[in-house]
Amino acid sequence: MNVRVGPPTSGLQGATTVPGDKSIAHRAVLFGALARGTTTVTGFHGGADVLATLGAVQALGARVERDGERVRVDGNGLAGRERVRIDCANSGTTMRLLAGLLAPGERTVELDGDGSLRRRPMARVAEPLRAMGAHVETTSGCPPITVHGRPLTGIDLRLPVASAQVKSAILLAGLGARGRTRVHEPIASRDHTERMLAYMGAEVRRGPTWAEVEGGQRLDGRPVPLPGDFSSAAFLLVATLIVSGSQVLIDEVGVNPTRTGLLPILARMGATIELVGVHDDAGEPRATLAVRSSALRGVDVLPGEVPATIDELPIVAIAAALADGETTIAGAGELRVKESDRIAGMEQLRRLGVAVRTTEDGLVIRGSGGRRLAGASIESGGDHRIAMAFAVAGLVAEDGVEVRGAECVDVSFPGFFQRLAALGARVEAL
Ligand code: S3P
Repeated sequence: MNVRVGPPTSGLQGATTVPGDKSIAHRAVLFGALARGTTTVTGFHGGADVLATLGAVQALGARVERDGERVRVDGNGLAGRERVRIDCANSGTTMRLLAGLLAPGERTVELDGDGSLRRRPMARVAEPLRAMGAHVETTSGCPPITVHGRPLTGIDLRLPVASAQVKSAILLAGLGARGRTRVHEPIASRDHTERMLAYMGAEVRRGPTWAEVEGGQRLDGRPVPLPGDFSSAAFLLVATLIVSGSQVLIDEVGVNPTRTGLLPILARMGATIELVGVHDDAGEPRATLAVRSSALRGVDVLPGEVPATIDELPIVAIAAALADGETTIAGAGELRVKESDRIAGMEQLRRLGVAVRTTEDGLVIRGSGGRRLAGASIESGGDHRIAMAFAVAGLVAEDGVEVRGAECVDVSFPGFFQRLAALGARVEAL
């Protein structure tokens, strides 16, 4: 599917919502399947990634019922002995977290995925799991991978790169291992696993950049009302900032500080964004985001800011393309091993007339100072965040931007184009 997004006739206006958080949804379904009792997840949007996780726990014997945005999971401890093959589709979170969950089990599970997932590194999970005693086979370090469950021993692990997926996989393996498992990261990554394990009754000890669990703990199913996904809201935030005369409210968005690194970056760029009515529910903070258009200036995004902004860097690049002056993003080599090489994907900004230079681990972008960009046609490369970032750029491009392969936005944000249109954007399916 190809979609063209073009400049609205006036500013973007209105109150909107975004679908439930993808990271938290994966965890609610996986931990719910592992837990004793029932976990009811609400705000479940049914994007392709979270459906892959739902299909996985069903294949592993958990009872699942879905009624619109409500999902009920009756846990079975993920116990079983039969061999199972699971299609994780495009979802790295599904594959890596399952590898950790299943490594201390009793069965053999083969985990595979689509062409994009098959290119992503899995040795970063397989190697520490092996150090705990696991038997994990990879295909030259990538999927498909086969996990043969066996008894594990706890580990004290230092991760070379901040990764919530790897940290979570090892902590989950640690729950089923003998003794204590501790994971240290160079910079704190998102902490949804630690929060949800505690919410479901496990004891998780934590420091600023480490987390620790004792093996043998059981989880209890709980209701999990998902907050709106901040990573989805990020596209609407930047859309509002760059279209002059815009004012938008986004209700009930997750504002866990390990996810909202975009906010201080945008504040430095000159953005006006307010968090209204911050409150906690099910262990995760939420708020309404109030945003209006702002003149932006270029900034330096530092390596220490990358983990809390990792999925938002493509949309930071779009904000940078409209800013006054130069923006640099450094220390973001992880972008090269996401659903696509996102540093290479953002080089397509050149087609919109933007001066962009890539480095091994980042981007240097010279902004237009608020002037309209050139209209262009770009390729999503099957990557939802590349597709949405360029769709937002279309709002400020002469003749708009055609996004080829736009169907991939459903991986994380079903309804993205409809919401943009409802706020006033010109959206045309080609
Ligand atoms: C995720 C963690 C991040 C992020 C991904 C989802 C998670 O990946 O990019 O979209 O749910 O744990 P890494 O932890 O590999 O950086």
